[in-house]
Amino acid sequence: MKTIFRGKDFITLQDWSKEELDTLLEVSFDLKKKFAMGLDTPYLKNKTAMLMFFEQSTRTRNSMEAGLAQLGGHANFLDTSTMQVSHGEVAKDTAIILGRYGHMIACRNCDWGIGNDYLTSLAKWAPVPVLSLQDDLYHPMQGIADIMTIMEKRENTRNLKVSIIWAYATSHKKPISVPVTQSLLFPRFGMDVTLAYPEGYDLPDWVIEQSRANAEKHGGSFKITHDMEVAYTDADVVIPKNWGSWVTNQSDDVIDENLKANKDWKCTKEMMAKADEDVMYMHALPADRGNEVEDSIIDGPHSIVYDEAENRLHTAKAVMALTMGGR
Ligand code: CP
Repeated sequence: MKTIFRGKDFITLQDWSKEELDTLLEVSFDLKKKFAMGLDTPYLKNKTAMLMFFEQSTRTRNSMEAGLAQLGGHANFLDTSTMQVSHGEVAKDTAIILGRYGHMIACRNCDWGIGNDYLTSLAKWAPVPVLSLQDDLYHPMQGIADIMTIMEKRENTRNLKVSIIWAYATSHKKPISVPVTQSLLFPRFGMDVTLAYPEGYDLPDWVIEQSRANAEKHGGSFKITHDMEVAYTDADVVIPKNWGSWVTNQSDDVIDENLKANKDWKCTKEMMAKADEDVMYMHALPADRGNEVEDSIIDGPHSIVYDEAENRLHTAKAVMALTMGGR
């Protein structure tokens, strides 16, 4: 078991070894159990984290703020529209200064072509660990919570059939960071992953190459289909979720002709009937109800979305406890 984490950045799970991820999950399960028992977990007493948000958030902000309070520390919520970065202050200056005031910097910046570069730049200069709260490429906090949720529902993840499925939505042009993170991560736990999407919603080529390499190394598999029914058929886990066509079309427009042409990519009763009888429906949330998924599914017996969202708390606490505290 890996035990040395203090100061480690958390920007992509690709930079965390499988052994490190296993420790992170063990700590997450331990913290969840202690939370259920009402036990104190003051592992980060008097520690302060700086949480920079360029975008809106419900789960990520609140799991971090509540989580750090439960660990005995304090989180400063920073709306970046009120910071000098909105006047052009560079990442280097922000990272060095915030790092002198506290013990960790976390940031959400999902701007296409900018977010990951910004976080990487913070990490280069910060004297403290930098944690991603989602960028244009990765959402590691979501990925680790998803794995925890699958593991607690199914003890053995090996050869579990997991389908990451594009879904129609009109709420906003969403980052690709959730499907990218899941595509890279799930094969490392031996899962048989199917990525399904209509033409035009490709993930970057390097993601596909690395996902296939991860599958080869860890005994999982990774395949792509443009047929939604293939992805649902016999699946143990389905994750129908929208993402934007950033790779092929960098426009910020939410609705375009290609989106409109794929309105039928919705998680319905008919689609779920093709999956395994014990199939689990997952979604990082917020869901675009009525577009991505029918209410009968997200509110139905196969849905585990609230357990998935709860696990954002336990995994966020584990990431902070190990990277800000620990040894
Ligand atoms: N899944 C997720 O990251 O939710 P928020 O955007 O509400 O943080």
